[in-house]
Amino acid sequence: MKTPTIQTSRLILRPLALSDAPAIQRHFNNWNIIRNLATVVPWPYPDDGAETFIRRELEKIAAGEEVHHWVLALRPGDGEAIGNIHFRATAETKDNRGFWLAEPYWNRGLMTEAISAVNDFAFNTLGIEQFYVCNAVSNEASRRVKQKTGAEFVGYVEIAHHNGQSKSERWRVTRENWLRLNRL
Ligand SMILES: CC(C)(COP(=O)(O)OP(=O)(O)OC[C@H]1O[C@@H](n2cnc3c(N)ncnc32)[C@H](O)[C@@H]1OP(=O)(O)O)[C@@H](O)C(=O)NCCC(=O)NCCS
Repeated sequence: MKTPTIQTSRLILRPLALSDAPAIQRHFNNWNIIRNLATVVPWPYPDDGAETFIRRELEKIAAGEEVHHWVLALRPGDGEAIGNIHFRATAETKDNRGFWLAEPYWNRGLMTEAISAVNDFAFNTLGIEQFYVCNAVSNEASRRVKQKTGAEFVGYVEIAHHNGQSKSERWRVTRENWLRLNRL
């Protein structure tokens, strides 16, 4: 399925495009973001890091991989990408989702708002039953986003992160929990 544009009260989530490379390069090239991420992300971040990343992901999508990539932009606003979420709709993976937000926008509930919309997409539009997400045990903000969006802790897995942390929490997000949370 084609990745849709999704509107929330404060954000537009729109499909990732090559034209987002300069904004992503500017916001993502930040140790406070990268230190929380798995070591598959290059650091020091290369000058063409965002462009290379976007080209690679768009090629995967064009080749039929079931991965959805959104950039987050504020509304109202100038449309600049201030973050990214990807969601992989396949069952056989340790971690179906990843996200980051530019540091000036942290702790305003924006990622929780965006992830709620992505959960709606996963369960209501794609119709999947459950998926898994992970974060380094030291990543309090990511854990909190998961707790606020219906994830249940299922155990630990090993994933090497840039900050040296290799112990990751793994969470399951089920349609049942998500619907229950939204009825409250
Ligand atoms: C993780 C991230 C996307 C969160 O985005 P955000 O928009 O700030 O998230 P929200 O505001 O929706 O929620 C953050 C929550 O974490 C809490 N939090 C943040 N830092 C915290 C800390 N050091 N200790 C405890 N709680 C913390 C906030 O108080 C908030 O919880 P609350 O609403 O209960 O008060 C952002 O911090 C980020 O981009 N981090 C770097 C990249 C990253 O870690 N990605 C995830 C990899 S698994």
